[in-house]
Amino acid sequence: MCGIVGYVGKKKASPILINGLLKLEYRGYDSAGIATIENGNIFCIKNKGRVKELQNSKDIDKLNSTIGISHTRWATHGKPSSANAHPHLDCHKNFAVVHNGIIENYIELKNFLINAGYSFSSETDTEVIPNLIDYYYSIDKESGPDKFVNAVHKAILDLKGSYAIAVLSKYEPDTIIVARKDSPLVIGINNDEKFIASDIPAILDYTNNIFILDDGDLVKITQNNLTFYNKNLEKIDKKSKIITWDAKSSDKGNFEHYMLKEIYEQPTAIRETIGTRIVPNKKCDFSDINISKSYLSEISRIYIVACGTAMHAGVCVKPIFEKLTNIPVEVDIASEFRYREPLIDSHTLIICISQSGETADTIAALKNAKANGSKTIAISNVIGSSITREADYTLYTHAGPEIAVASTKAYTSQITLLTLLAIHFAEVLDLPKTEIIDSLKNELLEIPSKANIILENVDAIKDFAKKICKETDIFFIGRGLDYAAAMEASLKLKEISYIHSDSYQSGELKHGPIALIEEDVTVIGIITDRRLLDKSTSNLQEVISRGAKTLIITNQDVDKKAFPYIYNIPKIHPFLSPILSIIPLQLLAYYVAKEKGLDVDKPRNLAKSVTVE
Ligand code: G6P
Repeated sequence: MCGIVGYVGKKKASPILINGLLKLEYRGYDSAGIATIENGNIFCIKNKGRVKELQNSKDIDKLNSTIGISHTRWATHGKPSSANAHPHLDCHKNFAVVHNGIIENYIELKNFLINAGYSFSSETDTEVIPNLIDYYYSIDKESGPDKFVNAVHKAILDLKGSYAIAVLSKYEPDTIIVARKDSPLVIGINNDEKFIASDIPAILDYTNNIFILDDGDLVKITQNNLTFYNKNLEKIDKKSKIITWDAKSSDKGNFEHYMLKEIYEQPTAIRETIGTRIVPNKKCDFSDINISKSYLSEISRIYIVACGTAMHAGVCVKPIFEKLTNIPVEVDIASEFRYREPLIDSHTLIICISQSGETADTIAALKNAKANGSKTIAISNVIGSSITREADYTLYTHAGPEIAVASTKAYTSQITLLTLLAIHFAEVLDLPKTEIIDSLKNELLEIPSKANIILENVDAIKDFAKKICKETDIFFIGRGLDYAAAMEASLKLKEISYIHSDSYQSGELKHGPIALIEEDVTVIGIITDRRLLDKSTSNLQEVISRGAKTLIITNQDVDKKAFPYIYNIPKIHPFLSPILSIIPLQLLAYYVAKEKGLDVDKPRNLAKSVTVE
């Protein structure tokens, strides 16, 4: 999705802005641009394509200003082109704006502005914003120090939809004004330098002292001052947070891609997520949310709501919650949940999972649930992200920044944290589940070392990746939690290798999908549940007899003579098996994409966090 970076300080702005945009490339984008103020006038360079092209453009060296705004665009209104790229200027070239989000009433505003004599040069919704600001600035007869702030405030009052904006004005060449609603924005400070970003990693090279803006905030930023206003333009106080991620944690280190680095970070991420929650001979420590027995006893249903990989983590923990708490659990895709009018009241509990904490559908689902009287828990990886400020309770996975679009360590950390939460609920409810709880706690602590065994054994995966990289259709099958892992494995492969893949419950094969199995089609089976070993291997035999080639990911005693490719993973409690069985399949997706020479970290059309519907 789109990215914003801004700077005001004493250094040349353009290299800082470009560096920030490079750090945001992972979000997914199709064009990039930058605006500064040079000799009292706004100077703007933008192009379709990569930030590198912007960086190499011949005009970039002409930028000497110490103030500027910049943007990477992911097209929503209007195709990727230099005209549609941000920043956008008003037709009189007095203001420049970068914008993340969608202005839903832009056609109405555009018509109003055209009637008022304004003209437009792009197909975007964004272009109404600088023109509206110019309009309000021009009709304001006052000439006080707040004229710029007032014009921006009046303009945003007219906007419907979502926005994070940063605005430059040639009338106040030392000021940037930012505002947000339903789209993230932060300000970093380092003495007499101020940094603006839609995502913290963009500015971590310069500071970890960060103000996280709330919906409705508007901020006037100069080199030495920050003035915060609320939605009524009343001055407010705000406190910054020290973010513990350091710049190195968002670097690739010695890895060729972020995705590979993040796959290898899983043992550490899981260890960090467990943190100090498992206390020897005591109940799990969830003192950070303090959920009472009387409240939990009244809960008749839990909804787990999320998108993409986070939703798949929800699928993995549904049986764990049901087994440990005796409360029925439904897992919903957020974009469906928000419109399907689910049965929600004060006896339902909503758990929303979002790595970024900025996914528009997940946030909307959480808000709907809250409005209908349900309590909400957010599971997120990003401190202070939007969802954490909406939820009644927040729990963080401490997986560290996840940069690759294809989510890996967030998934295994989410399953880890949610398993701990299910244990916590059972302990709060005083349910007689000691045996399974003790066993899960012990096994959770062993996962990092078991994950390392897989990570040290990649040659077979690389070989298999070479065998299947030219395929056009690949099937993943499994039963129970092996099917849950198959869903995620299939998503990983299609996201980054562009090979069509699908996941099926092994038992469902005969009800349709087996019609697609013919000579040399690849079917990947996951088998970690001893009870289902025979049934699952029979299903794989059925596809082999129709010519399929198979790979089995297993920790069971699968007949080596019958199946040519078997990848063994360590034994683990069946409830936790997806945390291990997904790792070789994340690696498989990675090596297939690499074999095909694809841009692993920035797959086409995808974005790391989807902040629009
Ligand atoms: C996008 C990303 C996925 C991610 C999903 C949900 O589609 O490409 O990797 O799983 O959003 O993101 P969230 O940040 O809410 O977990």
